[in-house]
Amino acid sequence: MERAYRLRTIPPYPFRETAALKAQKIAQGEKLIDFGIGDPDQPTPDFVIEAMAKAIRDRRTHQYDETGHGYSEFLEAIARHMQRRFGVEVDPPKQIQSTIGCKEALVHIEWAYIDPGDIVLVPDPAYSVYKVQATFCGGAAYPMPLRETNGFLPDLGAIPPSIAKRAKLLWLNYPNNPTGAVADVGFLEQAVAFAREYDLFVCQDASYCEVYYGDEKPPSILQVPGAEEVAIEFHSLSKTFNMTGWRVGWAVGAEEPIDGLSKVKANVDSGTFGAVQLAAAVALDHYEEWAPTLREVYRQRRDALVEGLQGLGWPVTAPPGAFYLWVRVPQGETSASFAKTLLEDCGVLAVPGAVYGDHGEGYVRMSLTIMADDPLAAIAEAVARMGELQVTY
Ligand SMILES: Cc1ncc(COP(=O)(O)O)c(C=O)c1O
Repeated sequence: MERAYRLRTIPPYPFRETAALKAQKIAQGEKLIDFGIGDPDQPTPDFVIEAMAKAIRDRRTHQYDETGHGYSEFLEAIARHMQRRFGVEVDPPKQIQSTIGCKEALVHIEWAYIDPGDIVLVPDPAYSVYKVQATFCGGAAYPMPLRETNGFLPDLGAIPPSIAKRAKLLWLNYPNNPTGAVADVGFLEQAVAFAREYDLFVCQDASYCEVYYGDEKPPSILQVPGAEEVAIEFHSLSKTFNMTGWRVGWAVGAEEPIDGLSKVKANVDSGTFGAVQLAAAVALDHYEEWAPTLREVYRQRRDALVEGLQGLGWPVTAPPGAFYLWVRVPQGETSASFAKTLLEDCGVLAVPGAVYGDHGEGYVRMSLTIMADDPLAAIAEAVARMGELQVTY
């Protein structure tokens, strides 16, 4: 049976290929050091697991969540969190939608707004989902290059007005996957002004917003006055609380896109498992005690890998946010050829930048989520192996 056009026209999901290659190497008995997929290797904190154990005995969680937006306990914990962390007041349920992780919501917001012929403004390089969904909906993704010279921020002024007028959504993702860049409020103000000028929604994927290393906390776009009319922001417990498998997050912001998202979800899924929502509410209420521990783990790994690679003479800078190093490839290499060299000659898995878009060419991404008994020792071992390579920058 021939598959639907939408499935025939998209490339394979990037990590499916990487996973196959990794499995093959492991089967050959190789000791890989895996800087591939960004999936926290640390366990979910005990206090969340305990909250879940209690919540799962709550009889009402065994049934469909018929609230539409999410349990009031979760929505209120989100509103408190948005207030404490960002100083932003939001009104549940009109401005909040619970989500099944944030990936699901990134997909469904496009279903809510994109018709054939519409344009979606998408960063390049970027998490593949924004662009793929535009194609799924019959729309077109217009790439906004993220260049090192511009701090990996898109140059909104470079988008032709004829394109901007046809665009319905503008994607941002800060802290950024794959570059590790963080956007300040000044840039988010520009994005909000752009959305007002061209009558579109800004979709800010904030799934890494609690992984940062400087004194400045990454802002929410909702801190910008007027954003509550033109912006929707996507948050997740996946990275903040080591809960990728639990599938829980939220969307927050302008009432119209929150309602559009809710309507799609009502027709597609039946919400996040109620017990997970109750445990997520407890997690958010303990965010301040927990998050410094999380950040410290990644800070140590980031510093070890950055200092190790700098010691080899590689031109690497420490990212201010997220848990990725965006590493330039040496002369004469493409992102794919260098990732292959790293894998074959060093047993080190990194992701070729080109899988994140044309402007990812020239880089590989190394994730600090390392599955190893001793991740810092694994980093030291990886640096030692990479030190054997003959590279010229
Ligand atoms: C930029 C970005 N957004 C969203 C997601 C998906 O996160 P979640 O687990 O919340 O669905 C990822 C996962 O790696 C990501 O890198």
